[in-house]
Amino acid sequence: MIDYDHDVPQALLIPEHHWPAFDTQGLSGEQRVRFNHLACLFTCEMFVHFEEYIVRYVERHKTRLARHIAPHKLDTFVREEREHIDAFYRLLQLIAPERYAQKSLKMLAWSRADTFLVWSASLPAFFVTASLFEEMTLYVADVMEEKPEESFDPVHAVMRLHAKEERSHVGIDNVLLRETAKERPRALFAAQLFMSLPIIVFCDQTLARGWKKQVKMFGAGEGLTAGQVRGLERRGISLSDRMGLQSFFKKQRKLDLPGGALLCGLLERFTQ
Ligand SMILES: [Fe+2]
Ligand SMILES: [Fe+2]
Repeated sequence: MIDYDHDVPQALLIPEHHWPAFDTQGLSGEQRVRFNHLACLFTCEMFVHFEEYIVRYVERHKTRLARHIAPHKLDTFVREEREHIDAFYRLLQLIAPERYAQKSLKMLAWSRADTFLVWSASLPAFFVTASLFEEMTLYVADVMEEKPEESFDPVHAVMRLHAKEERSHVGIDNVLLRETAKERPRALFAAQLFMSLPIIVFCDQTLARGWKKQVKMFGAGEGLTAGQVRGLERRGISLSDRMGLQSFFKKQRKLDLPGGALLCGLLERFTQ
């Protein structure tokens, strides 16, 4: 059981070194804390947003997926994702109760483009993307443990629990990819796998836009200079992203899907 009964400290919630790209040098100590809270809220919203993709996709394509994964396992998969969504909402409401009085995302609200993505993505494109994003969420708790003095207990507890359950989800993603590869011509499967690239770019741009908007508002509220705002706008690749990418490449190379090595090579190049 996660204990959410904590006062939110006027201190860092997630260690700053988790986001090496942020230039917070010019901020005062208090501004750094407020910025860190914003980055933490954004991270929680990001997790909810992507969990929503998975829940909706699995529910929409359940009959097809049940050819490869037993229905009770799919049910567990969806139930766990819903529990993760709830846990991240609990964090949002704990850290910013007024802002999240309604249980809805404020920075990364669901859009029609998201609905279209869930409706149109092929199984290989969707689950290779899911596998990548799920891997990237696995290591936040590890990073927090490197600096417990900069970590807020409830955030750490949710991240730890999430990582534990998420590992089996990555396993399911990869089984679905492997089994689908067996039943489709290699060229078709590879083409569908490559269609993950526009999905990844779309998600990345959605995040970049959403974050930029928040930083602009933060900068205006704090009276930051244009240069300071620029130093905070680029989220870059977080430490957990970096660790997740490495794990993803390793597993995908072992899976050896048609088109997998080339996809990993491209992603590696773009994320260096
Ligand atoms: Fe999850
Ligand atoms: Fe998941």
